[in-house]
Amino acid sequence: MIKVEQVVRDYQAGETVVKALKGVSLEIGDGEFVSIAGPSGSGKTTLLNLIGCIDALDSGEILIDGVKVTSMDKKEKTTYRRNNLGFIFQTYNLIPVLSAYENVSFVLSILNLPEAEIHQRTMAILREVGLQGMEDRRPSRLSGGQQQRIAIARALVKNPRIVLADEPTANLDSKTGQEILKLMKAMNEKYHTTFIFSTHDQMVMDFADRLILLHDGNIISDERRSV
Ligand SMILES: Nc1ncnc2c1ncn2[C@@H]1O[C@H](COP(=O)(O)OP(=O)(O)OP(=O)(O)O)[C@@H](O)[C@H]1O
Ligand SMILES: [Mg+2]
Repeated sequence: MIKVEQVVRDYQAGETVVKALKGVSLEIGDGEFVSIAGPSGSGKTTLLNLIGCIDALDSGEILIDGVKVTSMDKKEKTTYRRNNLGFIFQTYNLIPVLSAYENVSFVLSILNLPEAEIHQRTMAILREVGLQGMEDRRPSRLSGGQQQRIAIARALVKNPRIVLADEPTANLDSKTGQEILKLMKAMNEKYHTTFIFSTHDQMVMDFADRLILLHDGNIISDERRSV
């Protein structure tokens, strides 16, 4: 369970201070499939980066399973991220010189798992995201949707509790975007992984089980939808 309590994040932009989050509080339960939506500049990326232990806040607190992640130092945050969180980005952020297989397997190499287990888990997750037979291809030889599938496999291969996705479909056409969302939802249901994804696309918002709307650094609505 994720608990965000009165989180404030100010950015210093030259002389002026940009109030990116103005005291945001929310709770997200295990296995939720949540969208964080709102116009450009509303604070979506800032909120995801704070939950993802990538950024530091100015005041407030974030607890994940009772652990105060916001009190951790840089090294503790890195370890926490590595063991508990998966990330998916708008521009995929794959390593261009690595194959699909290597882009996924290196995550497990960092965790020092045995070679046989790395191979088995990498092949299994690539099959699950629909990339069987494409393991040896580099990202440049795959479509945008296929590249995002590699990113989903990379995020999920270590069985994280939480996957954070910042505008995962923004670079995809709407049909491919929908396929990616369906894949995320299938993985959410199969592994009970919590998914939090940001968007400003109505189609993507409609896909979520719960929609949190940000505006100017505040939550203006938080709505659960029965599917
Ligand atoms: N590194 C930074 N330095 C200064 N200001 C920043 C920085 N990052 C974000 N901001 C400001 O903080 C506010 C929130 O930004 P954020 O990136 O979280 O918005 P967003 O909702 O993700 O927008 P978008 O939809 O464009 O991605 C904006 O006003 C933005 O200009
Ligand atoms: Mg953003």
